[in-house]
Amino acid sequence: MVEEQPPEPLALAAPGPLAGTAHVPGDKSISHRALMFPALAVGQSEVTGLLESEDVFATAAALRAMGVQLHRVGEGHWTIDGVGVGGLLQPRQALDMGNSGTSTRLLMGLVASHPLQATFVGDASLSRRPMGRVIEPLSRMGAEILAAPGGLLPLTVRGMAPALPLDYRLPVASAQVKSAILLAGLNAAGTTRVVEPLPTRDHSERLLECMGAAIRIDRGPAGERLITLMGEAELSPVRIEVPADPSSAAFPMVAALIVPGSRITIPAVGLNPTRDGLLRTLLHMGARIGKRNLREVGGEPVADLVVEASALRCAETGPEDAPGMIDEFPILFVAAALAHGRSVFRGLEELRVKESDRLSTMAAGLAAAGVRVEEMPDGLAITGTGGEPVAGGCHVAVRLDHRIAMSFSILSLVARKPVFIDDARPIATSFPGFVPMMEAMGATRRER
Ligand code: S3P
Repeated sequence: MVEEQPPEPLALAAPGPLAGTAHVPGDKSISHRALMFPALAVGQSEVTGLLESEDVFATAAALRAMGVQLHRVGEGHWTIDGVGVGGLLQPRQALDMGNSGTSTRLLMGLVASHPLQATFVGDASLSRRPMGRVIEPLSRMGAEILAAPGGLLPLTVRGMAPALPLDYRLPVASAQVKSAILLAGLNAAGTTRVVEPLPTRDHSERLLECMGAAIRIDRGPAGERLITLMGEAELSPVRIEVPADPSSAAFPMVAALIVPGSRITIPAVGLNPTRDGLLRTLLHMGARIGKRNLREVGGEPVADLVVEASALRCAETGPEDAPGMIDEFPILFVAAALAHGRSVFRGLEELRVKESDRLSTMAAGLAAAGVRVEEMPDGLAITGTGGEPVAGGCHVAVRLDHRIAMSFSILSLVARKPVFIDDARPIATSFPGFVPMMEAMGATRRER
């Protein structure tokens, strides 16, 4: 995938205010699920607004390799002919997951309760990410999993059908682990229960409910979420309209907040309460962001966001804030670099095992651009410029991480000298139209 072409250095500039409409692609988390769950339905499902990016293509290719028919009808418009729970076929080759942790962990769950064996491979970034967190519960459900030392890719899953039901308390707040267990639980002989001490994104639960699965959400005595799913399920086909990805919307949103005089609109952004932590934090920091046209799209709350350049105050976040904005910290760090005062972000150990170690990658790039940053084992402290441009004049290594690449491209908009990223190719994993979208709002490419 990305590693097959030469690296593409890039730096953006903002010669003036940003203006216009930022069209953000479909939600990545929902797009993966909008292919995987319908793949197990009985009948044809239809999806519109699907994110067409490398990560989602990895999921689509793997499902095809296991006998699911997926058809692209038009841009973002796909049909999926489900094979029924338990109906996936033996793939003939290894499944190439590229850069996608969500594809890997969720598909491992899918395979775990099917009578087949599948090998998962991925790029250099994915091959460093921990899979033990899914290997452990899926093994308890009866799957046999053989991984590279340290619980890494490449790994092979031999499923058991039907699987053993599981009662499992999540040791890390992870929607991927939760979803892998629920996918396996669809073909388990009995009731599977996942206990979530901190709520994580609930797109799997919402979709399962829409598709007629017997799923129940309760609250435990300490406020934890209890998710109960009946196994050997029959799923009905659905029509899914995928909202714009709040994690992708985060980039033009912060860009408009920090480039003086900007005013932009971002249509139909998903505002699922398990995903809106960045929006809430930015509002707390004094961001001028208006929600227009609140409505429901595909069972998810959405609104058009109007974002205006704002004087930002510093912020503090802790472990309980992390799951609701876990992918947005790199761009929140950029907002903090332009805010008044010292922001402190803690409880972020999970950022060390994302597409890159996002604490050290962001700390290194921010420091190189002249920002005052302190790295802690579980977070960062950032002293902002109070709205003044940062120095810039540096090259930043993005380490195969799309969100690091986009975050430093946004920082470059408010830098006296360019902030070059060493490689823009990873952006295609989640947001292929990012650079043209920024150019349409007035950003330009900076020359070396
Ligand atoms: C995702 C869950 C999160 C997030 C990832 C997508 C999902 O990962 O970082 O980008 O779609 O379930 P974790 O489950 O590892 O927190």
